[in-house]
Amino acid sequence: MDEKRAMVNGVVVRNRPVAPDHFLLTVRMPRGFAQPLPGQFVMIRPSRGSDPLLARPLSVFGFRLHDDHGVLEILCRVAGRVTAILANLKPGEELAILGPIGRGFTLPVGISQVIFVAGGVGVAPLAYLLHSDLLASKAGREIRKDFYLGARSAGLLAGVERLRDFCELGICTDDGSQGYHGPVTAMLHREIHRFNPEKTIIYACGPTPMIRALRSLLREHPIPCQVSLEERMACGLGACLGCAVAIRGPGGNREYRRVCHDGPVFDLREVVFV
Ligand code: FES
Repeated sequence: MDEKRAMVNGVVVRNRPVAPDHFLLTVRMPRGFAQPLPGQFVMIRPSRGSDPLLARPLSVFGFRLHDDHGVLEILCRVAGRVTAILANLKPGEELAILGPIGRGFTLPVGISQVIFVAGGVGVAPLAYLLHSDLLASKAGREIRKDFYLGARSAGLLAGVERLRDFCELGICTDDGSQGYHGPVTAMLHREIHRFNPEKTIIYACGPTPMIRALRSLLREHPIPCQVSLEERMACGLGACLGCAVAIRGPGGNREYRRVCHDGPVFDLREVVFV
């Protein structure tokens, strides 16, 4: 993280629930706040008080640049004290925001098929990636996009409206209330033979069990995969080492990386689950 960067104040424009315990926060950002790259995140805390532990790393769900300001969208699940505070912010209230931070997704040369695998609010950074210039079809480069989105039930499929019409969409729910009945990785397993590993990349974000299952699946079907490990962050400031993950280094040695500083996006094949 660039330690010299300071937090800036954003102003809440809208804040609305989109599913039980999920909300979409829209924030007006000052001029000069850079357009986030897909996969980067922001640190956010309520402006009241100065406790840095109140800051939370959150994915970018949307960002639009205007002449004299930006509009940042955060799709978030209430999962503790800070996110509960954020869920109750009203238009006009201020937030302290640092970012954009981190190393995001990349598109290797020669890829013509992209698969997204998301669980829960893991949809947020992948929806932003889906709409980014990184994956825009350009003259001589067409990219097919298949999106596999899983949630516990139909009512928790937050963010899905931003995917329809922009990709082939596969919905999965744990309780079978919509789409495929079962984990998102099981649905992908059923269909993975359709994809040419030489021309395909997978982008993934979701809970650890989903990422582990994906890792197992890709041992049998070796398609490159970049995974955002944002759920593993604590302070997000590079200070607590609470986000350290084991990585298989170039010589096969185990090394440790900070998700907030070296990620949050990693090559799934290099991640060591302990
Ligand atoms: Fe504390 Fe990364 S979350 S060092």
